[in-house]
Amino acid sequence: MKKEKLDKLKQECLECKQCPLGETRINVVFSDGNAKTAKAILIGEAPGENEDKTGTPFVGRAGKLLNEFLEKAGISRENDLYIINTVKCRPPKNRVPTDEEKKSCEKFLLNQIEIINPKILIFCGATALKSFYDKKIPISKIRGEILELEIGGRKRKCIPIFHPSYLLRYHSTEEGSPRYLMLEDLIKIKTLLDEK
Ligand code: URA
Repeated sequence: MKKEKLDKLKQECLECKQCPLGETRINVVFSDGNAKTAKAILIGEAPGENEDKTGTPFVGRAGKLLNEFLEKAGISRENDLYIINTVKCRPPKNRVPTDEEKKSCEKFLLNQIEIINPKILIFCGATALKSFYDKKIPISKIRGEILELEIGGRKRKCIPIFHPSYLLRYHSTEEGSPRYLMLEDLIKIKTLLDEK
């Protein structure tokens, strides 16, 4: 049933021209991961150049770094996660999506969340966090915290984490460094996913 619902939603999404991003995209970047087995939805910012070319989220440099961190934490990208972005089409020159663009894409995202019904939503980076959380708190202050937020009329467990693009700028893995904290957060998420 999940599959049929998602296929229908994807078809709608492939035809969407509701915002200007629909005019400049090569591909709609609908999702990656296994809708049947995913226990968490990871929400990134927006597709970049590689994602636009391939139609798959997080396949560029940031995506490769994300894969490395997931593997270290023991989270399977293929089985444990369903990966999406706040918008399904690439903003020109990789700018941050506008509130209007996010709003017009929201129904797809909320439908995906409802259909998958994950244990946890992972907000990957400040743009995803801001889309669901209205308090002005930097991601560095709130990452790793479990937030109970009302999303699509249901209370959901959400955890913000750093965006891997940010980690590309900081190479240290020393205690307290962004990379150290990212791994710590993902290990915490893995523990939550494994809980019965
Ligand atoms: N950055 C994102 O936020 N999402 C992607 O899909 C790729 C890079």
